Amino acid sequence: MGNGIAHIFAQSGFKVSLIDISEDALSKALNTITKNLDRQVAKETITEEIKRFALANISTFTDVKQGVKDVDLVVEAATENVDLKLKIFKQLDEVSAPDTILASNTSSISITRIASVTQRANKVIGMHFMNPVPVMKLVEVIRGYSTSNEVTRTIMGLSKQLGKIPVEVNDYPGFVANRILMPMINEAIFSLYEGVAGVEEIDTVMKLGMAHPMGPLQLADFIGLDVCLSILDVLHQGFGNPKYAPCPLLVNMVQAGHNGVKTGTGFYTYQAASKELIVAPRFKK
Ligand code: CAA
Repeated sequence: MGNGIAHIFAQSGFKVSLIDISEDALSKALNTITKNLDRQVAKETITEEIKRFALANISTFTDVKQGVKDVDLVVEAATENVDLKLKIFKQLDEVSAPDTILASNTSSISITRIASVTQRANKVIGMHFMNPVPVMKLVEVIRGYSTSNEVTRTIMGLSKQLGKIPVEVNDYPGFVANRILMPMINEAIFSLYEGVAGVEEIDTVMKLGMAHPMGPLQLADFIGLDVCLSILDVLHQGFGNPKYAPCPLLVNMVQAGHNGVKTGTGFYTYQAASKELIVAPRFKK
């Protein structure tokens, strides 16, 4: 997600400091951004000149303090792990200028909890982008318990400057996007687990019957099954309602390391440079 977020800010004319602790991750991110900009040039949605302009707007840093020097906004997009996010925000609060807004791209971790480790809870907010970031129009803007009206207005306006459509929501487990999306994905996995239908059949019903661009099982693979599981855990614990309990098949797949696209297998198998959808051997009839 981080590379997509950097991509759209840079393309919209903002100077971007791309920060990661690993040089390797930074060079992979720049490669991905370049490839995605090339794709837009090929589709004639941007010119070669805009591509060069976007790339020239991005600088990379492995040192957080240097990266956030003189910035007005930080958008954190680290792994979906509470302890890691709390550690990062504590550090960001210490090294950023007092007026800097600290945003998180978290898909489900409480913004209020993240804000609680900083001395600027009024300036902490959620900016939840959707994957693929250059394509998807939505930014779910999440107001923590103490986020100020002024900061919310700034982030709503900024999201529009990025060519996105922001929607303001309050900070409760899963916000809106994942509170609705994850139970659907979980129910699709239960339908497979209980033998109601196969992988392709379940996805076809939702693609052709409800005009979803991807079926829920393919979408789960695309998001990452580990991410889906961690969001369901947040919903389950946060509301204390058994309706959010993750399907045992999802738990098994994550434990087996079959996390979807990024691991090469999930409900489908994935090969580089092939767009063909092949059901994973485990689920073949
Ligand atoms: N960067 C730039 N452009 C991209 C891109 C990228 N990374 N990925 C795809 N595109 C562009 C393509 O160039 C193409 O452009 P045109 O329409 O101009 O031709 C367009 O997007 C469609 O791409 P493709 O033709 O390659 O493939 P597709 O038609 O199968 O669409 C998809 C791919 C856009 C991913 C589509 O399947 C889709 O919308 N899927 C659902 C995505 C979704 O639900 N995302 C939200 C996930 S939830 C989340 O992110 C948050 C969370 O908290 C879990």
